[in-house]
Amino acid sequence: MKVLVIHGPNLNLLGAREAEIYGSRTLGDINKALKKLAKELGVVLSIHQSNHEGEIVDLIQNSKSYGAIIINPAAYTHTSVAIRDAIAAVQVPTIEVHLSNIYGREKFRHKSLIAPVAIGQISGFGAESYLLALRAAAYIANAKRSNPKKKTS
Ligand code: DQA
Repeated sequence: MKVLVIHGPNLNLLGAREAEIYGSRTLGDINKALKKLAKELGVVLSIHQSNHEGEIVDLIQNSKSYGAIIINPAAYTHTSVAIRDAIAAVQVPTIEVHLSNIYGREKFRHKSLIAPVAIGQISGFGAESYLLALRAAAYIANAKRSNPKKKTS
């Protein structure tokens, strides 16, 4: 099973960026933990970070061979119709991830344009949010394999 992981804008700065909100772990640390868990779960990961909306759209459009997508769209969560439409178009089960609890922060972060087209959202568990998302992705892909016609949401 292959899972595509997409980290959105400014997540390359993790560790140095607003550590009181996002924690002290770097993106490298998170990716290392993801790869370790992926090995345990028998999942193959393809991990990307981009600060560019169009590049993220391209990654999603090219994701048809993946069992699931894990995406932290970062600031694009709240603004990007293009990323939302790409997810809706490919129909690859998508899990939305946030390090912080977006509903406990500024009002402009309470709205996710991505959530309605995602299978689900994991928000507020710091770096652990990604690991929970990977477990969810493995669960969804296995459920789909054993019963391809069954809807997972
Ligand atoms: C974030 C939350 C977003 O509101 C913010 O713009 C980010 C990170 C998170 O992981 O908590 O860049 O997606």
